[in-house]
Amino acid sequence: MQESFSLVIFGATGNLAQLKLIPALYDLAEANLLPEKVSIVGIGRKELSDEEFRQYSNDVLHKPNRHHQHPIKEEVAEKLLEKMHYVSGDIGKKELYEKLDEKLKEDKSCSNRMFYLATYPELYPTVFNHLEETGLNSQKCGFVRVIIEKPIGSDLDSAKKLNQLLAEYYAEDQIYRLDHYLGRETLQNILSFRFANNLFEPMINKDHVDHIQITAAEDFGIGMRGGYYDSVGALKDVGQNHILQMIALATMEAPTSFTNQDVTDKRIKLLKELAPEMDRLVFAQYEGYLNERSVNPDSNNDTFFAFRTHINNKRFEGVPIYVRAGKALKRTVTEITIVFKKDSQHLFSHLNGGKEANMLIYRIQPNEGIVLKFSSKTPGPDFKLQDEYMQYCYRQTAVSLPDPYLRLLVDALRGDQTFFVDAEEVEAQWKFIDPLIAARSKQKLVSYKAGSFGPEEANQIIEADGRKWIEPSVSFCSF
Ligand SMILES: NC(=O)c1ccc[n+]([C@@H]2O[C@H](COP(=O)([O-])OP(=O)(O)OC[C@H]3O[C@@H](n4cnc5c(N)ncnc54)[C@H](OP(=O)(O)O)[C@@H]3O)[C@@H](O)[C@H]2O)c1
Repeated sequence: MQESFSLVIFGATGNLAQLKLIPALYDLAEANLLPEKVSIVGIGRKELSDEEFRQYSNDVLHKPNRHHQHPIKEEVAEKLLEKMHYVSGDIGKKELYEKLDEKLKEDKSCSNRMFYLATYPELYPTVFNHLEETGLNSQKCGFVRVIIEKPIGSDLDSAKKLNQLLAEYYAEDQIYRLDHYLGRETLQNILSFRFANNLFEPMINKDHVDHIQITAAEDFGIGMRGGYYDSVGALKDVGQNHILQMIALATMEAPTSFTNQDVTDKRIKLLKELAPEMDRLVFAQYEGYLNERSVNPDSNNDTFFAFRTHINNKRFEGVPIYVRAGKALKRTVTEITIVFKKDSQHLFSHLNGGKEANMLIYRIQPNEGIVLKFSSKTPGPDFKLQDEYMQYCYRQTAVSLPDPYLRLLVDALRGDQTFFVDAEEVEAQWKFIDPLIAARSKQKLVSYKAGSFGPEEANQIIEADGRKWIEPSVSFCSF
């Protein structure tokens, strides 16, 4: 990429920038994916000079765990840091934008611009307004794109308002709503697994699929995020975005072409067909949550939810989808399991073993991979069956999985919105979630023991249909 490019990070001193953006910029630099003429401008209230911001960014890069997959190459870091600048000031004040304008003009050339809002959503209106007033939104010189992070609104109404606000300043093809889940390699691979092969896709329908299960569990509590988490809860924090994206990718129809328009259209279509079921819904809180830091001692907030849903289309008629997700659970694991129907004319029905249903498991994290459960003959003189697993494991391929932020920043640079959430999509997500949230206030919140897989009530959601939650296996792809 030869054109000059400016990335402006509002909130460059915050948590998101430290955890994700600065490390992702390093990864981009190391992979030679940043434009040659790039300028990165951080913004925050802290008074920092360019030199101090570079030192701060260097410290961020060298903190343990930031780059557990590979060590920092000092010459790459040095080259990146040279391109980093800082403007201090209050996002609500015009002076900041005048200073930013001066800073961006320093390289005297026209540049493409990307504004990354790694700051609070309450500040968006003032940011857009000031960028407009100071002419920084102008595309005379090159493209202008804006990236915003989840949460995109807190319900359908606020999401619509935010979409309207964005539309006042930007065209939809300038707006990148980032849900890092869509940048996950394991999630994107669901599309290639389904649509680049002809093996399983003909079987992903009501004739062959008994049901679908999703478990998204974390074995840790809310840590230092009490203030934020207690105002949203599990369903809004991960249900509205990550869970719905997983369902969409695993069950949407094949796009007619691999373009943003077609892929996004199919995700939206599926989301609109997804039906909330009010009578199969549980919200729960882990024991001890009320003693967590910054949590309201009377909080009615959910740290766990489970529900049943279904898709209102011919393909999946009568196929239930069961979802459970939450914090302080038995182990950290996210997986989608497609459970196939059992063969009623089973040739081996007289045998004891190997009678379990076939399963296709997308292991999103950890030990990422795709696993197929099937029956196999037990080696030996007798004809016995046992359940076996065929596994494709990313770790076996020795390719390290790129961080979703790297992937999505590259896409935003290239102008590819396929794995970003569009306005209609986020509204379809809230349309599904809002009735569930409304039901939360009318329901008794149940409690569960930290270290379990949630409350007994969550078991009833699936057991009432004669099915069971599948305990995610620790042995998949663990070498
Ligand atoms: N943290 C994550 O992992 C994560 C993940 C997904 C989405 N998000 C979203 O990303 C956004 C940022 O989250 P965060 O966790 O990074 O928050 P944070 O740690 O509190 O950081 C907020 C940033 O905004 C800056 N800021 C706040 N008010 C400002 C003002 N009036 N003028 C100038 N700068 C101001 C702060 O700069 P000063 O410190 O200099 O004031 C800081 O750099 C939120 O919308 C959040 O929901 C965060």
